[in-house]
Amino acid sequence: MTLFESSNLSQEPLVKVNKWLQEAVKLEVPLPHAMNLSTVDDSGQPSSRMVLLKSISDKGIIFYTDYESHKGQMLNINSKAALNFWWAKTDKQIRIQGVCVKTSKEESEEYFQSRPRGSQISATVSFQSKEIKSYSDLVKEAEDLDKRASESDLGRPARWGGYLLVPNRIEFWKNESNRLHKRELFTLESIKWKKTLLSP
Ligand SMILES: Cc1cc2nc3c(=O)[nH]c(=O)nc-3n(C[C@H](O)[C@H](O)[C@H](O)COP(=O)(O)O)c2cc1C
Repeated sequence: MTLFESSNLSQEPLVKVNKWLQEAVKLEVPLPHAMNLSTVDDSGQPSSRMVLLKSISDKGIIFYTDYESHKGQMLNINSKAALNFWWAKTDKQIRIQGVCVKTSKEESEEYFQSRPRGSQISATVSFQSKEIKSYSDLVKEAEDLDKRASESDLGRPARWGGYLLVPNRIEFWKNESNRLHKRELFTLESIKWKKTLLSP
């Protein structure tokens, strides 16, 4: 469990997501747990950015961010989101749709405390997605905090924490010859996943 954690996996599509992730890890793909996250604002405008998967379980996929960032504000208004993975070395894509809920304060706290001091400092001085006057001022602010803060001073900012994306649709895409790719779709029907195949 070096890059991310996996636990309590028994649901077929989530087991498969983890299997494809592990395959990318084995092939030493750079940042195999990087994924595109798409959110939508109140006017219907989508926005995408990369985030890192922190953990995966039957409950869903967890990533960490600033709740007051652009994505955090969008998720406040509309909790529906989509994730996308693609690894060049395996030539496989996974598309996931679902709903984001904040992780518990305890869970966010535990992860924040486990992070390197430099990351804790950056999360404290950076109000993600807010306009700044100067990059060098931000670096200086981080350096100053590093000099004066003891370990116990570096508490988790309330605006920093995790989201659990609870999936209801997961599609696996695998490159095949002559563009006759394989697509397998799992849709959640109340509590059971239904599996279908899609034409490429
Ligand atoms: C490979 C990669 C991984 C990233 N991981 C995260 C992450 O885990 N959490 C995060 O908040 N931002 C992460 N970022 C930065 C985001 O892509 C984005 O710039 C930031 O979250 C602000 O997005 P927003 O303005 O839409 O909220 C990552 C960027 C890259 C390129």
